[in-house]
Amino acid sequence: MTRPISRRTALLLGGLGVVTVVGGAGMLWVTWPAGTDRFTGGDALRQPAELRSTGGLLAVTLVAAPVTTTIGGRSAKLLGYNDALPGPTLRLHPGDRLRVRLTNGLTHPTNLHVHGLHVSPEGNGDNMAVTVAAGGAFDYEYQLPANHPPGVYWYHPHHHGNVADQVFAGLYGTIVVDDPAPIETSRERVLVISDLTLDGAGAVTGASAADRMQGREGELVLVNGQLAPALVLRPGERERWRIVNACVSRYLRLRLDGQRLQLLGIDSGRPEYPAEVQEILLVPGNRADVLVTAAPGTAVLRTLAYDRGAATAGGMMGGSRRRATGSDVTLASVTVTGDPAPAPAGVPRHPAPIDLRGATVTARRELSFAMGMGMGDGSMMTFTINGQEFDPDRLDTTVLAGSVEEWTLGNTSGMDHPVHLHVWPMQIVARGDTAETDVVWRDVVNVPAGGQVTVRISFSDFAGRTVYHCHILDHEDAGMMGTILAR
Ligand code: C2O
Ligand code: CU
Ligand code: CU
Repeated sequence: MTRPISRRTALLLGGLGVVTVVGGAGMLWVTWPAGTDRFTGGDALRQPAELRSTGGLLAVTLVAAPVTTTIGGRSAKLLGYNDALPGPTLRLHPGDRLRVRLTNGLTHPTNLHVHGLHVSPEGNGDNMAVTVAAGGAFDYEYQLPANHPPGVYWYHPHHHGNVADQVFAGLYGTIVVDDPAPIETSRERVLVISDLTLDGAGAVTGASAADRMQGREGELVLVNGQLAPALVLRPGERERWRIVNACVSRYLRLRLDGQRLQLLGIDSGRPEYPAEVQEILLVPGNRADVLVTAAPGTAVLRTLAYDRGAATAGGMMGGSRRRATGSDVTLASVTVTGDPAPAPAGVPRHPAPIDLRGATVTARRELSFAMGMGMGDGSMMTFTINGQEFDPDRLDTTVLAGSVEEWTLGNTSGMDHPVHLHVWPMQIVARGDTAETDVVWRDVVNVPAGGQVTVRISFSDFAGRTVYHCHILDHEDAGMMGTILAR
C-alpha cells in the first residue's frame, strides 16, 4: 500500500514504513510493507547500557536468554544478552583485558565471538571451537594489544549452524575501543542496525530453505531494537555515531540527506583525516565510525536498496528471481532545532594507516566462493569455498605467523558474498583488475557477484586456529566457511 503523507505526519509517526520517494514541498511517499502498519515508531532513540573498563580491565557477565520486549508498540519475544536488545556496549582502551563470563540460557548451544578485535584465537580467547551447551557457561578472556586500533567492533554468537537464527533473534552488542586522542563531540551514540520479522504472536519467524539460500532479511529494520526512533540535535552540534550492521544478510546503504557526515573509518580502518560522505555502504558485519554535524531542519536516516543478486542457478527455485534488499527503508528521524551550539574544534589527525602494498608477500592464494546444486534431491544449494563445505576438523589454510600474504577472493555465484576473516584485518589492494588507490582496511570485504577482490593480510601478533567465512550468516551456517592456522 502506498500513500502520500506530509513530512510532519511522517515524523509524528516516527517515519514509520518504507520511504520510496522523498518528494519536494515536504512530502514523503511512504510504502507500508504488508503487515507492518500495525507497528508504531517515533520514540526517542535509546542507548544500550554501557560497561567501561577501569584500570585496564573490564569484567562482565553476558547472559544469552529469551527476552520479552516491545518493538514498535507490540510485544515481541526475542533472544537477548542481559535482558536487552542490543546487549550492553563494552567500552575498552587499547591494551585492556576483557573478561566475559558467557552464560547460556538458551535451548541451543551458543558461544561468543568478538568480531574485528585483534586478539588471540586460542584457548579461552576468541576461540571458534568453544561450544557452550544450553545451561552452561564459559569464561572468555581477551588481551588487547597496546596498539590495538581504536574503533567500533561487536560481539555475537558463532556456534556453526545456529549463528543466523541467534543473531536474527537479537543476540548482538557493540564494542568500542576508545581513541588515544579524543575528538570533541556533543555526544556519542551507538546505532546498532538489525532486522527481524515477527509473527502475529510476536515471535521471531523462522527461515525457509529459500530464505536461507538467499540470506534472510527481516521485515522490520531496527535501530537499537527500536522501530523508526527519533533523534533531536541542536544546530551545529557534532555527534559521533558508532554504527553496526548486525543484520544477518541485509546490506545497508546509509544516507542522512541534508546533514554533514564525516566518515572517520569503517571496521578498524581509519585514514588520517575523515572523509566527507553522502552515503555509507555497510555490508553485514561492517561498522562505521561517523561524525554528524547538525544543520537546522529535519532529516531521515535511510538505507537505500542494494541489489546483492539472487540465489538462483539456471532456473533453480522455479526461476523466480528473489531480488534482495529491494526497497528503501526509513531507519530513524532526525530533528535539528533549538539554540545553535558553538562550533566544535577541528578533528585531530589520526596516525597514517599501515600500507601493505610495499610489503614482501610470502604467499599468494585464491579463495573461490561458490554456490552449486546440492547432491541430494537437488532442492538445496551448496555453499562452498574452493569447492568444500565447512568441516571444523579439516585444516584448509596454513599461514606463517608474522608473514604477509596476498589473497584473491573470487565469487563465481550470482550473488555478492561479504567475506570475513577473524583476528587479522584485510587491506583491499584491487577490485577486479582495478588497483585500489587509497589505503582501505576492512574485516568484512564485499566480493560482488561474478567478481573478485584482492587483499593483503599481515598475520601479525598471534598464532592459532580460526576461521574465514561469508558474513551472510545463513551462508556461513550452510557451510561457506573455512579454517585457518597461523603457526
Ligand atoms: Cu561477525 Cu565470524 O563473524
Ligand atoms: Cu568475526
Ligand atoms: Cu554468502
